[in-house]
Amino acid sequence: MIKSILITGANNGIGKETARQFAMLNGTEKIYLACRNEEKAKHAKQSLEQSTGKSIFKIVLMDVSNIDSVRSAVKSLTEPIEAIVMNAGGMGGKNPAQKTSDGVSQIFATNVLGHVVLFDEMVKANLLTKVALFAGTEASRGVPKMGMNRPNLKTSSIDEFSSICDSSYFGNEFDPMQAYGLVKYVATMWMSSEARKNPNLRIVTISPGGTKGTAVMDDLPFFSKIMYKYLMMPILMPLMGMVHKLELGAKRFIDGIIDESYKSGVFYGSKEPVLTGSVIDQSTIFADLKNNTFQDNANMAIHKFIKD
Ligand SMILES: NC(=O)c1ccc[n+]([C@@H]2O[C@H](COP(=O)([O-])OP(=O)(O)OC[C@H]3O[C@@H](n4cnc5c(N)ncnc54)[C@H](OP(=O)(O)O)[C@@H]3O)[C@@H](O)[C@H]2O)c1
Repeated sequence: MIKSILITGANNGIGKETARQFAMLNGTEKIYLACRNEEKAKHAKQSLEQSTGKSIFKIVLMDVSNIDSVRSAVKSLTEPIEAIVMNAGGMGGKNPAQKTSDGVSQIFATNVLGHVVLFDEMVKANLLTKVALFAGTEASRGVPKMGMNRPNLKTSSIDEFSSICDSSYFGNEFDPMQAYGLVKYVATMWMSSEARKNPNLRIVTISPGGTKGTAVMDDLPFFSKIMYKYLMMPILMPLMGMVHKLELGAKRFIDGIIDESYKSGVFYGSKEPVLTGSVIDQSTIFADLKNNTFQDNANMAIHKFIKD
């Protein structure tokens, strides 16, 4: 049984629904809503209190694209937390390829860098005691049916993974959808690397699957956004088994947190060719995911961008 949990990006979409479902489990005592916007966080807390009838939510202000913000949020924690869900993320705002002051792209900062700092700082301070879950995506092992290529790295060296972090990998052809899959791939490899280093924790990556009712596509360029949000997501993708309800996306995270049969170091996602239904170990689809050297190279590449 997990009594306390911290969820990043908990004010909307899958993060908020995960908080709601977690609140309804027996034994839940505290849920930390880690959000970047105080107004949105307060609104989410109020609506979660209303929908669950429980007063167990606490706001932690945290912008995961900003290392200082993550570090000061961790400093504000006064007691250990049993689980974290590193859920915040998406397409990286209006300028996903733009570099942050840490030298990574905005899309990388939003999905990965702050989460790595969150995990490191919590582990260092003995503030994380049982489970870490990262919100992955099937785009990281490729979804050929939707034009998302499998990662095709030349060497999977530290330098090559670094080039995804700072977006030089993409040259002048930055495509937010392809970048999204690769950025999440780097994080997925980091999670598996950390799983080997931290045998006392269960460290899993889970894709929520194609999930409706969220704002994840809102930052895409205008025409892509219209296509995904109003044509693909509500009409075409459900017909192809590519989208399920918000409740089912969040349920995958709940299962990963509470069910110990989800193994540390594994990335779970949908079977091919759909993005819904039961989950399987994604390395059975894309073998690089279980290459320990590649995993450690991804981990070292990310840490090159994190200064003390
Ligand atoms: N929906 C899908 O089909 C799908 C599929 C695979 C994976 N995922 C992953 O699932 C996760 C949740 O996505 P979603 O679909 O629920 O999208 P969403 O509705 O856009 O929710 C994203 C959440 O992340 C927060 N966030 C974004 N940048 C942040 C930052 N710098 N600091 C703190 N919080 C930040 C957002 O807060 P604001 O409201 O302040 O922007 C929002 O609460 C994402 O990591 C996404 O990549 C989604």
